[in-house]
Amino acid sequence: MEMKDKTVVLGVTGSIAAYKAAELASQLTQAGAKVEVIMTEAATEFIAPLTFRNITGRPVVTKMFELAAEYSVEHVALAEAADVVVIAPATANIIAKIAAGIADDMLCCTVLATKAPIIMAPAMDVRMYENQATQDNLAKLKARGFTIVGPGYGRLASGKRGLGRLVDVNEILGTIRQVLGRSGDLAGKRIVVTAGGTQEPVDPVRCLTNRSSGKMGYALAEAARDRGAQVALISAPSALPKPIGMDVVNVGTTQEMHQAVKKAVNKADALIMAAAVADYRPKKVSKSKIKRQRASSLTLELERTPDILVEVKGKFLRVGFAAESEDLVANAKEKLQKKQLDLIIANDITSKGSGIGADTNQVVIIDRAGKIEELPLLLKKEVADRILDKVVGIMAKRSGR
Ligand SMILES: Cc1cc2nc3c(=O)[nH]c(=O)nc-3n(C[C@H](O)[C@H](O)[C@H](O)COP(=O)(O)O)c2cc1C
Repeated sequence: MEMKDKTVVLGVTGSIAAYKAAELASQLTQAGAKVEVIMTEAATEFIAPLTFRNITGRPVVTKMFELAAEYSVEHVALAEAADVVVIAPATANIIAKIAAGIADDMLCCTVLATKAPIIMAPAMDVRMYENQATQDNLAKLKARGFTIVGPGYGRLASGKRGLGRLVDVNEILGTIRQVLGRSGDLAGKRIVVTAGGTQEPVDPVRCLTNRSSGKMGYALAEAARDRGAQVALISAPSALPKPIGMDVVNVGTTQEMHQAVKKAVNKADALIMAAAVADYRPKKVSKSKIKRQRASSLTLELERTPDILVEVKGKFLRVGFAAESEDLVANAKEKLQKKQLDLIIANDITSKGSGIGADTNQVVIIDRAGKIEELPLLLKKEVADRILDKVVGIMAKRSGR
């Protein structure tokens, strides 16, 4: 329920993609936000207000002069209540009207009157989108500080392919979270997060890897973004969808991750190494596929990989992870000392529901002074926020606040 204190005004306009706004309203409501939907008259031709009313549990505004009793006087009440205004889908028409400052419906009035950040997700025919009038209007809105997300490329309602599709609901949601997080406790901080399990090639088709899903690292990157940080996520292969609102660098091997981290930590305030990085890699990578041989065994010689946390130097705060199957705290403490970390997050990978691949994690957080905090079994998103609380605390101490 991370959006529980937030009011999102969702403007829905007359596009064939209007039905997708129902999913957006649902996701926002499930995240705890108070979702106030304003529909243009044209939008009501595509989807019934009743749908939004049921999803959000709130009255839906469709007409300026017949407002729900709650807003009976103030035609700008929603403008004031909004933490963010999102127009999805945004027609060429609403984009033009807002660019021109027209106020002839509730949505336009709300946009004109609000001080909240405004996000627009255009959706229209490719020729309408490419038309110079629409392009000029969008450029005007961007220059005024609007966040424009999309449109995407793909099949359009006309059957043509091109730019004009409403972007995925997840992309709009990620953008909303990022915009809402701008005033968070990590605003202005640059955080580099690594995630996933590295892959060390054996031959062109095989590799040595591990079972890391990337869930913990992605949760950290998203939680940091939601608290206002500028995030660079260096991701080893993971099946998770690409997170929105951050720089994502995809890497394969430990060596590639090392290079990417070295580049990304320039000016970083913190490096959080949640990736499961290989300690060893095959000494020789076969150029051709290794064939099944007569001999009953095959020996691969391995060599040590670079220890990224030790080799990447800088003034940034350093957070490491220790996945252990025995002597959890003692091993983690040793790693913290050896790698000169500010925090280490230790998890017992043998305990149920915890660690690699799971949605939950049970960790122990140890700081440089040796202070130990044992957390209960939590969702990885919750663990991420608890780790970031510590990171914020250390940053504040360092800057003397
Ligand atoms: C079937 C149909 C689909 C439409 N889809 C879009 C669309 O995706 N994007 C768009 O900009 N206009 C679209 N239009 C045109 C708008 O509905 C029209 O410009 C309307 O005046 C927009 O009003 P509004 O911006 O107040 O919602 C469509 C019209 C029809 C009849």
